[in-house]
Amino acid sequence: MNYNISIKKVEKSRTENLDFANVPLGRTFTDHMFICDYEEGQWENPRIVPLYDIPTHPAAMALHYGQAIFEGMKATKDKNSTPLLFRPELNAKRLNFSAERMGMPELPEDLFLDGLKQLVALDQNWIPPQDGSALYLRPFMYADEAFIGMRAATSYKFIIIASPSNPLYNKRIKLYAETDFIRAADGGTGEAKAAGNYAAAIRPTELAKEKGFDQVLWLDAVEHKYIQEVGTMNIFFKINGEFITPSLDGAILNGITRLSVIDYLRYKGYEVKEQPITIHEIVEASNNGKLEEAFGTGTAVGIAMIQEIGYKNSVIHISNENPVGNMVYEYINGVRTGKVNDDLNWMVKVENELV
Ligand SMILES: Cc1ncc(COP(=O)(O)O)c(C=O)c1O
Repeated sequence: MNYNISIKKVEKSRTENLDFANVPLGRTFTDHMFICDYEEGQWENPRIVPLYDIPTHPAAMALHYGQAIFEGMKATKDKNSTPLLFRPELNAKRLNFSAERMGMPELPEDLFLDGLKQLVALDQNWIPPQDGSALYLRPFMYADEAFIGMRAATSYKFIIIASPSNPLYNKRIKLYAETDFIRAADGGTGEAKAAGNYAAAIRPTELAKEKGFDQVLWLDAVEHKYIQEVGTMNIFFKINGEFITPSLDGAILNGITRLSVIDYLRYKGYEVKEQPITIHEIVEASNNGKLEEAFGTGTAVGIAMIQEIGYKNSVIHISNENPVGNMVYEYINGVRTGKVNDDLNWMVKVENELV
């Protein structure tokens, strides 16, 4: 279905003052945004307008009860400067998965994709040309009904904003295996991309940073031993020739990069196991010299090599040789810029959009 998205363009683009060498993640925003309202049981008035500060009633329910979810994705350009999106249909599906868990309305997937493509087409001059940089896209939905009381809201907004961004990390990262705080428990909201999950992670992450680490390695809520994920990434280990990533147990976010890395590793003939894995198994593999590689995967970073994991009073050191991790990194970056063949058909071109 083609939605009738109205478009109001800026009079003058701000790209003139843009320095693509200096756009740290999430600080600079493009000329336009996509916005759509949910009222009386339906999504209406989809529009692209110049980016503006949205007026918010102080009783807007998202501010009090946290009905707020989001997605994160990237647009890049191929050799011919055609904008490319990385598996955007999976973000549209995951948004709806999160919406269902948080008692929020479903958004038609084709409305998500139409709005996204038209926004990217319109703001394509904001897509950074350098390798590793991208136009970060942030679709999100929140409850904007003004009401005090605990129930699902009846009005919502769905918005997409876009931010040209340099890579988040270009170094190996240090993780702190957290044994006091937890991110998510069985039956909770860990599997949804809900804003509240991130709020609960902020203080533990600050504390880990004070101790000299970059991110928290989250362990399960009950025994504090099963590995879940890292900051805003999923995690992979290579042990004795095989890859292992924690299985999706209901508390882990179903990462689109995670899925893509699993698909690509299998395509390249590697064994990849999705199974529960404990921090003790990692300590043991490290002691026996069998821990070969470890990396995090996520949209913001792509692939981030792990240098060490602090666990209780010891540190697990990881080799700085990451032959397979580097191969996956090169492939994912390569398909994003059309420099390597997209063998697994991930990329979606943004062309001939109605702008
Ligand atoms: C908690 C969490 N885990 C994992 C990921 C990685 O997911 P994806 O690969 O879809 O970006 C993210 C980032 O979106 C995240 O916020």
